[in-house]
Amino acid sequence: MRITIVGAGYVGLVTGACLAETGHEVVIVDRDAERIGGLKIGRMPIYEAGLERLVSNTAGAGRLSFTTDLAPAVADADAVFICVGTPPRPADGHADISGVHAVAGEIATALCAFTLVVTKSTVPVGTGDEVEAIIRARRPDADFAVVSNPEFLREGVAIADFLAPDRIVVGVEEERAGALMAALYAPLTAKGAPLVVTNRRTAELIKYAANSFLALKITYINEIANLCEEVGADVVDVSRGIGLDSRIGAKFLKAGPGFGGSCFPKDMLALMKTAQDHGVPLRSVETAVAVNDARKGEMVRKIVRAAGGSVAGKTLAVLGLTFKPDTDDMRSAASLVILPRLIKAGAVIRAYDPAGMANAAPLLPDVAMATSAFSACEGADAAVLITEWDEFARLDLSQLAGVMKTPLLIDLRNLFDPAIAARAGLRYVSIGRGDDAAGLPPAGFETAARSPRRLALS
Ligand code: UDX
Repeated sequence: MRITIVGAGYVGLVTGACLAETGHEVVIVDRDAERIGGLKIGRMPIYEAGLERLVSNTAGAGRLSFTTDLAPAVADADAVFICVGTPPRPADGHADISGVHAVAGEIATALCAFTLVVTKSTVPVGTGDEVEAIIRARRPDADFAVVSNPEFLREGVAIADFLAPDRIVVGVEEERAGALMAALYAPLTAKGAPLVVTNRRTAELIKYAANSFLALKITYINEIANLCEEVGADVVDVSRGIGLDSRIGAKFLKAGPGFGGSCFPKDMLALMKTAQDHGVPLRSVETAVAVNDARKGEMVRKIVRAAGGSVAGKTLAVLGLTFKPDTDDMRSAASLVILPRLIKAGAVIRAYDPAGMANAAPLLPDVAMATSAFSACEGADAAVLITEWDEFARLDLSQLAGVMKTPLLIDLRNLFDPAIAARAGLRYVSIGRGDDAAGLPPAGFETAARSPRRLALS
């Protein structure tokens, strides 16, 4: 099929390149001439593992091209995907869909034969109806169908998420649109990807409900981690113990400094607002947002406590700045809240991140950026791990302990085995295990005697 993607951002590029990979003929449109110029010579405006190669392969095979000229690209298309941003409105947290509306208007004027207009951007329930009304008002004669097809792409693994999805969700209001969407995704459904076909409003809500549920799961385990610290339990084992229950599932049960990123915080806020507007407040979602916000403060207090009650005048080495590994994205990263508070409390911060420092530097002007984990840690009073990059998991902890002034590692992601950290000569403070976790028996040891240990001490 001939597909046009409007918006050469994260979602548009991944969607376009992946649809080209599955055999479709794809044109990506963006009004940013510099961005399109760069893409034409293989320069990616964002960092996503495997994207550059996929773009170069599919463009080389003649199935993917780039343009700033929307009208001809829309006129030729069987399906036009709207992939523009929907950031939160600063005033009230509602998703700002003015970009979606504007693109709908532009598409309307260019439509020729029957065309699917597909919203891929995350949009509030009812946006599909609005898009349809905008197009219908401008072009009462046009033959088109508006479809909701939300994305579920995780940064860092977005290409795999697209090409081998857990499910594809399609919201349609008429049968021919459903049939065309099924044909469009046939290369993926043939390989086993389940296709959920529903109405448009349901599809729009599925996206928000999925993200909020995952964020609830993370928030839940973070609170359980707090309890673990008090009762001498180990949250890593709790996660495993509950995650093996197939009704719960093991994913998104890693305790940490709270969720961040471009989607969860924004989408939860938007869902909350929609729910409030309809008089059906989602109290669990509201609570999770509040708990997640408060979590950053808890992390600051944990760091200060581990550092002996004060960080004033102390040098802290921070490992990892991005909201998660394998991305350079700093949006709603925990580091953006935690580090300024530590600086306010008197700490001097030297940070290192494998990919995020260029984006982080202007956001964290008082943080010195180091060239490696070791150089950040040299002479430091403590190291604080905020993002669980693989590069950090491979660090030689004895060597790390050797270069630090005080060998203290505060691990906000439970990346290391407490026993290994202790053997390396580090005082190791982690999440949901209590500060004395290093003395506990290794994983796999029959754990009956574990929990009472700390209780017995207190
Ligand atoms: C998310 C959704 O997963 C994806 O489906 C959606 O379309 C976009 O938003 P992404 O923001 O890329 O993807 O990151 P994700 O891997 O979901 O992580 C989000 C946040 O939760 C990160 O800050 C991460 O560190 C945190 N997280 C995740 C945890 O703290 N614990 C976990 O177990 C999982």
